Amino acid sequence: ASTLGAQAAQSGRYFGTAVAAGRLGDSTYSTLLNREFNSVTPENEMKWDTTEPSRGSFNFGPGDQIANRAQSRGQRLRGHTLVWHSQLPGWVSSIRDANTLRGVMNNHITSVMNHYKGKVFAWDVVNEAFADGGSGQHRASVFQNLLGDGFIEQAFRTARSADPAAKLCYNDYSIENWSDAKTQGVYRMVRDFKARGVPIDCVGFQAHFGTGGPPASFQTTLSNFAALGVDVQITELDIAQASPTAYANTVRACLNVARCNGITVWGIRDSDSWRASENPLLFDRSGNKKPAYNAALTAM
Ligand code: XIL
Repeated sequence: ASTLGAQAAQSGRYFGTAVAAGRLGDSTYSTLLNREFNSVTPENEMKWDTTEPSRGSFNFGPGDQIANRAQSRGQRLRGHTLVWHSQLPGWVSSIRDANTLRGVMNNHITSVMNHYKGKVFAWDVVNEAFADGGSGQHRASVFQNLLGDGFIEQAFRTARSADPAAKLCYNDYSIENWSDAKTQGVYRMVRDFKARGVPIDCVGFQAHFGTGGPPASFQTTLSNFAALGVDVQITELDIAQASPTAYANTVRACLNVARCNGITVWGIRDSDSWRASENPLLFDRSGNKKPAYNAALTAM
């Protein structure tokens, strides 16, 4: 096939991109979006600071713009993200009472998932809850600090009741290298959830890589998680300087694992990237295919 999405579809997978609502009016951007991708993730529009900027008052406008456009073009939609310590409004981070925060978190999950029911096929229910470095434990956050380790389980249980048809994912970065303590911490959590019947369906590997691309163990990591009984997805791929080999290695790692069912790059052109100075994406600033594009396409 001649596009990323169509090529991924040949093995039953999707190839997606992060989308920013504010760029949809740019015709170079929207042409590439329509042509190349069969899945989209709102880059910021479904985050808490946008969807519930003040308590109980929801703003779905920007998210709807992306969701409705994706639906009308037959693209899948990943929901990103319900519970995260970042891009969290101050009214949440300043809550000091556990019962209040539990109610607020559950209401947020339920309200946002209800709104997008039938449109979002997979949700990043909890994003980046684990600490960097050697602890293998959760990071500090208002959720962790007030609700304790159980906040992740609580969020997934609430999410399952809100939309039983949606796939529920845990999403994080720097969990691609199998031997890292952070990877092991997430692995133990997923194993424990599966053993105790806590609803979890997928793990998202952000895959924000440096120039060398994925660690040599990346495919091992994907298959070890998949063996727990979850799907795995590459959710925010970008690679500093976009080496074709590094992109091909990343795509191959996914294609070699049956339960790796999709890849999402974190933007279309280098100029759209949150790491724009590193030119980490598949299209240049003018919207031309870079060598990494052909490497990714032919690796599928
Ligand atoms: C980034 C966006 O790309 C930026 O536009 C925003 O300013 C900050 O967030 N991990 C995530 C994504 O899960 O939501 C982040 O996206 C990148 C890191």
